[in-house]
Amino acid sequence: MKMHKIAVIGGDGIGPEVIEESIRIVDAAGKKHGAQFDWQRLPWSSENYKKTGHMVPPGGWELLQQHDAIFFGAVGSPDVPETVTVHGLLLPMRRKFDQYVNLRPAYLYEGVPSPLKDKAPGSIDFLVFRENTEGEYAPIGGRIYEGMDADTAVQVSLFTRRGCDRILRAAFEAARKRKKILTSITKSNALTYGLGLWDDVANAVAKDYPDVKLRHLLVDAAAMDFVRKPETFDVVVASNLFGDILTDLSAMVTGSVGLASSANINPEKKFPSMFEPVHGSAPDIAGKGIANPLAAVLSSALMLDHLREESCAAAIRQAVAQVLKEGKTMPPDLGGKSKTREVADAVLAAL
Ligand code: NAD
Ligand code: IPM
Ligand code: MN
Repeated sequence: MKMHKIAVIGGDGIGPEVIEESIRIVDAAGKKHGAQFDWQRLPWSSENYKKTGHMVPPGGWELLQQHDAIFFGAVGSPDVPETVTVHGLLLPMRRKFDQYVNLRPAYLYEGVPSPLKDKAPGSIDFLVFRENTEGEYAPIGGRIYEGMDADTAVQVSLFTRRGCDRILRAAFEAARKRKKILTSITKSNALTYGLGLWDDVANAVAKDYPDVKLRHLLVDAAAMDFVRKPETFDVVVASNLFGDILTDLSAMVTGSVGLASSANINPEKKFPSMFEPVHGSAPDIAGKGIANPLAAVLSSALMLDHLREESCAAAIRQAVAQVLKEGKTMPPDLGGKSKTREVADAVLAAL
């Protein structure tokens, strides 16, 4: 039986709450399907930063590198700057470990109310491929003449042919295995340099995938269509910022951000991939025991797919689907009254 070494960073707010529930579920699925997990919990968080002065301790990145995967909650605290938390841990991890594919599925489960009326279960079912290492998130720029009348800021977007090519290929590959429709979402009518390059690369890569239909859609129209006709999307590919915004939107049209999972993948497996819910640390509900753990649980299923423990992953997805369908143990974000622990217990029972 393979033992998978997983680094666990619960992080801040509801991060540790949803991650610990997910670990119980993964261990139970592993017991049934012949997989074992060695969880190494790392206390990296805002609280730990306040005590030690480090978001990532010396040697921390090398430590992560020794693991088969990273299971991540969220970081971000009202009393610690995002330049420390998000820019000290989450964003450098995606870049250092070249996790250039950010896969974020959108699926409307049976039993989950969509805010859109008359949407049948499964009618919304698409994958978002978000570029995760460059684009609008390139850490390039600065503030000059700070605090003076001439106070000026520069924030550079970085688009490379290599960066566009590899995320587009990943999306084309996925589209090829599904309905063979890929929607590339940009704003290249206004941002003609970076996203103009993106379009050029998309059209070039499309030649290698003649079986896949490539559609170009501008992000403002895409936001409209995510609401107006989400069932027309199959695989979506977008740059870093647009992928971020659109996946909170796709999370909501499929019920709640409390169900939205994500994988930050280094396809070459040169570096560990990282799995985390789409949502953040949710300071407004942290410590109350009411966070929906299912986004983290479904992210653990993406991690199990990556580790080639597909039967464990399938069992977890099936158990989550059953709990949602029965509708007896729903957390507040899905209109119920159940606590984080109760929702996880229901998934364990369904397993
Ligand atoms: P958020 O996702 O934390 O919260 C947005 C809203 O969704 C809140 O009302 C929250 O209560 C609700 N929500 C989120 N997850 C939920 C869950 N599992 N169950 C029920 N409700 C849930 O976004 P935000 O408020 O913009 O950000 C809070 C902090 O988290 C910020 O510091 C931000 O930078 C950080 N953040 C971190 C990550 C990450 O580490 N991956 C992701 C997003 C935001
Ligand atoms: C996400 C988050 C992050 C992002 C923030 C915390 C920087 O919103 O993972 O979706 O924008 O990538
Ligand atoms: Mn986001």
